[in-house]
Amino acid sequence: MSYKMNNNPIGIFDSGIGGITIYEELHKLLPNESIIYLADSKNAPYGKKSKEQIIELSIKNTKFLLKKCCKLIVVACNTASTNAVKTLRKKYDIPFIRIQPAIKPAALQSKTKIVGILATESTLSSDLFYETSQKFAQGVEVIEQKGNGIVSLIESGKMHSSEMDQLLRKYLDPMLEKNIDNLVLGCTHYPFLRSKIEMITGKEINIIDSGEAIARQTKNILEIENLINDGTTQNTQQFYINKNIDVFQKLLDTYHKDLKVLRLDF
Ligand code: DGL
Repeated sequence: MSYKMNNNPIGIFDSGIGGITIYEELHKLLPNESIIYLADSKNAPYGKKSKEQIIELSIKNTKFLLKKCCKLIVVACNTASTNAVKTLRKKYDIPFIRIQPAIKPAALQSKTKIVGILATESTLSSDLFYETSQKFAQGVEVIEQKGNGIVSLIESGKMHSSEMDQLLRKYLDPMLEKNIDNLVLGCTHYPFLRSKIEMITGKEINIIDSGEAIARQTKNILEIENLINDGTTQNTQQFYINKNIDVFQKLLDTYHKDLKVLRLDF
């Protein structure tokens, strides 16, 4: 890199507000970093789109964050990560951190050798997910469940609704009947539902998401690339969304009362 980018922001994007589960872990681990979060809620859910559409939207999101001079981009969306990061890495010259469902730790920790994964349709059908399962889940049965409808309910402010409770029961009960002992949350929107999920699964099922691991990986890459913020400037936290700003603001208020979401025409 030709000029010093250390104090430039980290960019994060997701198809909506789910990536906030990743933002929180990042901000906790890297409190000196400036972060710009982009929620492309107008185009959510990505999980039902084709690979080509997901790549196109991911390029559009990346261009926005590059205009804001981001030094690294965290693709805080399993669907975009599994379908588009390869292309983004080829096209752009900054580090991209990708998320993928935590199949490896689930398989390693499983005693029943049966693990469940709840993720979007496009994540489950991606090559990367297939390759990861082949590599890390040898000898383990992986029960895949599409989480159709969950992202849309969260994006429209219905995280706590009877529709959500019914959907979760419909998706989780069959996995419990198959005796899973680990459940992978393969979409960044799903950790918001952890307590609801636990009410259904009970405490004895181990629920795994990728948030902390992604934050650690980001820190690691910033260190390797010599891109850690040097602490000489005040950090800023910015949040942009192109639909349902109220839903995002309400969610953010539950974590940080002082941070404001900005509306974007995008
Ligand atoms: N948060 C996204 C993910 O991790 C949701 C995808 C969607 O919009 O369907 O996959």
